[in-house]
Amino acid sequence: MKFGATEEEVVTREEFPMEKAKEVLKDETIAVIGYGVQGPAQALNLRDNGFHVIVGQRKNSKTWDKAVQHGWKPGETLFEIEEAAKRGTIIQYLLSDAGQISSWPVVKPFLTAGKALYFSHGFGVTFSDQTGIIPPKDIDVILAAPKGSGTSVRRLFLQGKGINSSFAVFQDATGKARARTIALGIGVGSGYLFETDFKREVYSDLTGERGTLMGAIAGIFEAQYEVLRSKGHTPSEAFNETVEELTQSLMPLVAENGMDWMYSNCSTTAQRGALDWKKKFKEVTLPVFKELYESVASGAEAKRTIDTCSKPDYRERLAEELKELRESELWQAGATVRSLRPEKEKVGDSMIV
Ligand SMILES: NC(=O)c1ccc[n+]([C@@H]2O[C@H](COP(=O)([O-])OP(=O)(O)OC[C@H]3O[C@@H](n4cnc5c(N)ncnc54)[C@H](OP(=O)(O)O)[C@@H]3O)[C@@H](O)[C@H]2O)c1
Repeated sequence: MKFGATEEEVVTREEFPMEKAKEVLKDETIAVIGYGVQGPAQALNLRDNGFHVIVGQRKNSKTWDKAVQHGWKPGETLFEIEEAAKRGTIIQYLLSDAGQISSWPVVKPFLTAGKALYFSHGFGVTFSDQTGIIPPKDIDVILAAPKGSGTSVRRLFLQGKGINSSFAVFQDATGKARARTIALGIGVGSGYLFETDFKREVYSDLTGERGTLMGAIAGIFEAQYEVLRSKGHTPSEAFNETVEELTQSLMPLVAENGMDWMYSNCSTTAQRGALDWKKKFKEVTLPVFKELYESVASGAEAKRTIDTCSKPDYRERLAEELKELRESELWQAGATVRSLRPEKEKVGDSMIV
């Protein structure tokens, strides 16, 4: 397929239909280790697609209870991590990246010859000098990484759609690593699959989430909102002009038809301003994106993630930071604006079973 002027190979459901995926994985027991965000989405999609799936999750945890609520049966399809790793022939290692480090000594002994170790992020293997995740040589080490939240992976699956995923083979010990990877990618509900390697996956992913997908966008929201408020605009006006119009009106159009189409279908005043100011924003943010990429490539971002996420009080500290964000005027205004939407859609974090 041509992506602009660049030719890329992609795998679609036409070339690799579900039946083929089932044939490739017919003798496999897929153990999904971790039931946080990606775990439930991938486990449920695989189960609904007819694959043999079990879940590994530490007990005495709310997450275990969530797995039970989703229909996984303790002792039949739901086990402690160790037991699931023992039973699985494909180990989908979907603990948090910090959890993957601490559970590695538990899982590693069960990675026996011919099994496959599957990731949805290249983090653990790429930064092995920091994570200690060095897989045995006689197993396949593979990756399928949905380009979206686990919640979307499940929602889009239930809507009959799919999320695009990257895939990679780090180690092919059995000769069937590639087929296993693509079959799993199709099984978890991917739209199309594009090939990468572990390093490129983690570099692009860390850059993207720190950049335009999450970090940069939140920073830009805050900056514009602050300026509008400091110049006397009401919260309602500032929020609508900063966030609401973007998420509700413009981005859905960009998703459907691209940025050029959205530009060509807005007012001439908006077009002129957007085309002029786009250059300025690019100019001032380009050095920040370069700095960000270097910070990812040097391993500094991995170090910071591991250091902070491994602290015992990480969740409490995170809750405090998120509370601050939630209670900021910008997002308080957002809550009110959302409550006033005519359709009052329910947006929750619950996994739809
Ligand atoms: N979030 C996404 O949508 C997304 C998208 C693409 C790729 N990925 C990748 O998918 C993988 C899973 O990500 P995620 O966001 O789903 O993870 P997550 O929600 O943070 O994972 C939480 C899971 O890890 C377990 N866990 C955490 N620390 C543990 C420890 N020390 N020992 C044992 N279990 C522990 C949790 O159990 P408890 O609840 O009992 O703590 C829970 O099952 C990661 O590699 C991530 O980069 C995620």
